[in-house]
Formats: sequence, C-alpha cells, structure tokens
Amino acid sequence: MSDLTALVQRALDELRGCGDEAALRAWHTRYFGKQGEVLAAIKNIGAIPPAERRAYGQEANRIKEALTGAYEAALAREKKRGLERSLAEDAVDVTLPARPVPRGRLHLATQVMRAITAIFADMGFQVYRSREVEDDLTNFELLNMPPHHPARDMWDTFYTTTPGVVLRTHTSPGQIHVMRELCPQPIRVILPGMCYRYEAITTRSEIQFEQVEGLVIGERVTMADLKGTIVAFARRLFGEQRQVRIRSSYFPFTEPSIEVDMDCIVCAGKGCSLCKRSGWLEIMGAGMVHPVVLRNGGYDPARFSGFAFGMGPQRIAMLKYALDDIRQFWANDLRFLRQF
Ligand code: DAH
Repeated sequence: MSDLTALVQRALDELRGCGDEAALRAWHTRYFGKQGEVLAAIKNIGAIPPAERRAYGQEANRIKEALTGAYEAALAREKKRGLERSLAEDAVDVTLPARPVPRGRLHLATQVMRAITAIFADMGFQVYRSREVEDDLTNFELLNMPPHHPARDMWDTFYTTTPGVVLRTHTSPGQIHVMRELCPQPIRVILPGMCYRYEAITTRSEIQFEQVEGLVIGERVTMADLKGTIVAFARRLFGEQRQVRIRSSYFPFTEPSIEVDMDCIVCAGKGCSLCKRSGWLEIMGAGMVHPVVLRNGGYDPARFSGFAFGMGPQRIAMLKYALDDIRQFWANDLRFLRQF
C-alpha cells in the first residue's frame, strides 16, 4: 500500500514537471505503457497477502483512474497552450491587402473583332467560320480569277508543297463555302479570320492579317442595301456623325465594285496627317456579287442578287486608335498591348 502511495505521488510530481506534449506522452508510456509502472503495480496483486488483496486492488484501480484523469487534463491544457502559442507566434494579418494577381486581357485585335461582330450581329448577320488553308480553285478560280488572271498579282500567297493548296489570301473564298452550304436559302453572314500574303513587311502591310468579309444574298438585294449596311456599320463603330463616300473600283468577284471611304475621324474632312490631307480614310472594298460567283455558289443570277464587302480589322483599329505601325499587332510587345 505504501508503495502505491509513493507511486502516485511520484507520478503526479513528474506530470507537473512535463513542459510540453512530447514530455507528457513520454510520461504516459512510462506509467501506462506495456512495461508501465501502473500496470506492473496492478499485476503485483499476486504478491500481496490474500487478506489485503481487495483493498490493494481497489487502491490500485483508484490510482489508475486518478492518474489517467490527471494525464488527460494535463494533455488538454498543453494542447490548448500550444494552439494559443501558435496563434500568437504565427499570426496572420488578414486585413493586409492581398498581392495583386496579374490579369490578362483581350488582345486589341480580339477586341476590335468582337466590336465589329457585335455590330453586324445587331443587323442580323451570323458568323461563318471558313478554313485558312484553301485550294487555288476556291481562293481564285471560283471567285472569277482564272489562272494567269492579272488580278492574282494583288493576292500573291504562300503555296504549300501540295500542288493547288495555298494559305488563303482573303476571306472571300469563304463566300463559296457558305453559298454551297446554304443554297438556295438567303444568306446574311460575316466571315472573320486570318489571311496570308506574300508581301514585304512594312508599317502598312503584314504577311498575316485578319479580314472580315460580309455576304448577303437574296431575291431583291441591291446596292442601296449595301450602302445602308456600310453607313450603319461605320456610324456604330466610329460615331453617328460619320460620312461615307463610295468610289468605283475593280474586283474580279464583284460587279460593280466599289471602295468605301469614311470622312477622317481626326479632321472630319478638313485634311490632316492621318488622312494624308485628303479628308477621307479607306475602310473597305465591296460590290454586288458577280454573276459568275453567284453561279459558282449555286445561285441563279437571274433570280438572286447579293452584295459583299471585305475589310481589314487591323486597319480599322489603326484608324480608331491612330496607330502608325501594323507590325505591332503580332509583335507581342506588352508595352504596346497593355495600352488597350
Ligand atoms: N477580298 C478583297 C481583298 O482582300 C476584299 C474585298 C473586296 C472583299 C470586295 C469583297 C468585296 O467581298 O466585295 O482585297
């Protein structure tokens, strides 16, 4: 019995001396492990004279419970202290502003393309996606440019190693694809996308650029519809006061063909450096779809007519933002791109 009293005294003293969780756990192993002193004391009951066994057993169990309770309380206290310590030492100031996350933005070309698409969408145009790798037939011949046609000089391109397969020089071949797909239904689409030309790269021309083609086909489509559409477009993109001027021109795939100018957004026609003192800025080529092209698309020119136009959104963006170098679009210079 006196051994038990000494044991409990010593165990409690040591428990009080434990400074951290690891010390507490070591204490627990020392007293309650398989070789632990508490278990040993309980097992020792066989060595006690039978008359005292009952009292000894009861006392041993009481000690076991008391020590277990003391241990658990000490452990809980230590855990709480540890938590408080780490809260104080590793405190995070949640009121500090976060570091800014760098955010991307849409490329200027994408922004302009979306603005153009939105305007035509409001006028009932759908977007038709056409291939960038074309055959000579669709890029030239079906658009009324037979081999050796002199107009081909304006659209020199990159030829692939497969004969007759080229990178498209304009979005106009998309007209053939959309007509053949939708004939004989009426058509009102724009065809945006990348085009390629074999060109000297300068501030005004690139070997790679986007175009937006427009095509409308129906039974009574006239030049007046073309003009109204272009004027509405120019005013939506550049402002209500814009004036539009039409000059006659030549494209093999339209008859008649026109070129469309808009009064200069800087000087409104008076003449400045942007418009090279002319007062006008060229924004697109257009015309009434040539009967040969209509027929190549499957439409009977006696019944159907249509208009088409083609513009370079990079050129349009250059006007809108007074940019002086078309090469900046694909140069990937963030100092340029971040301005938009
Ligand atoms: N495809 C012409 C070019 O790349 C632009 C163009 C002119 C498209 C007149 C047309 C059009 O649809 O009618 O220069």
